[in-house]
Amino acid sequence: MNHMELMKCVLLLVFVSSVCEAVALPTCQWAHYKELSEKSKNLLERMGGQLPQKCLEGKNSSFPSFPKDVFIKAQNEDLVLVALETLSGVKNIFKNNHTLVKWESDSLALFRSLVFRQVRKLQECTGKKFQTAMEKPADSSTATLRSFFEKLEERLKEKEFSSCAWEIVRTELQGGLEELQTVLESKN
Ligand SMILES: *[C@@H]1O[C@H](CO)[C@@H](O)[C@H](O)[C@H]1NC(C)=O
Ligand SMILES: *[C@@H]1O[C@H](CO)[C@@H](O)[C@H](O)[C@H]1NC(C)=O
Repeated sequence: MNHMELMKCVLLLVFVSSVCEAVALPTCQWAHYKELSEKSKNLLERMGGQLPQKCLEGKNSSFPSFPKDVFIKAQNEDLVLVALETLSGVKNIFKNNHTLVKWESDSLALFRSLVFRQVRKLQECTGKKFQTAMEKPADSSTATLRSFFEKLEERLKEKEFSSCAWEIVRTELQGGLEELQTVLESKN
């Protein structure tokens, strides 16, 4: 097989598999997210290891803690919105400058692409519902999450994206993703 034929073959495979994915996977099935979510949670854990001792001092002072009860509080039909708010927040935080922190770059890249995929899928799955999330009262889980991510990013900026600041952010988000995973595990 020459080079051109090989390319065509690869392109065809990519096309067929994306069509299959679109047809065969109803976008709101939790089973699919469980797997993605488990993978991304593990990557986040793996890319940095334990929170370094020197970073612990700053932890209690100014960084907000992940609001742990948001997933429990979310009604069944809201869970998808709360998950979307969480993953969008994670996606946006990781757009910030992380040159000062030494994370394993392959894990980081894979983590970001998985989160990106989850956000896109959840957006497809929520469609119109996402709009209504914007009109929720201020004490809703999505509003709580939005304010958490805003504060988190503010602190990160204040600390000038130091490696400790990033490690604290990573630890907080890891806790959040673990909570989400626990709730997803209980879904069919
Ligand atoms: C953080 O925790 C340490 C040890 O528990 C405590 O001594 C310190 O005052 C705390 N810092 C803030 C800003 O609360
Ligand atoms: C990221 O931060 C580093 C270190 O502070 C800086 O040298 C670099 O220019 C920054 N990169 C961007 C894209 O802002």
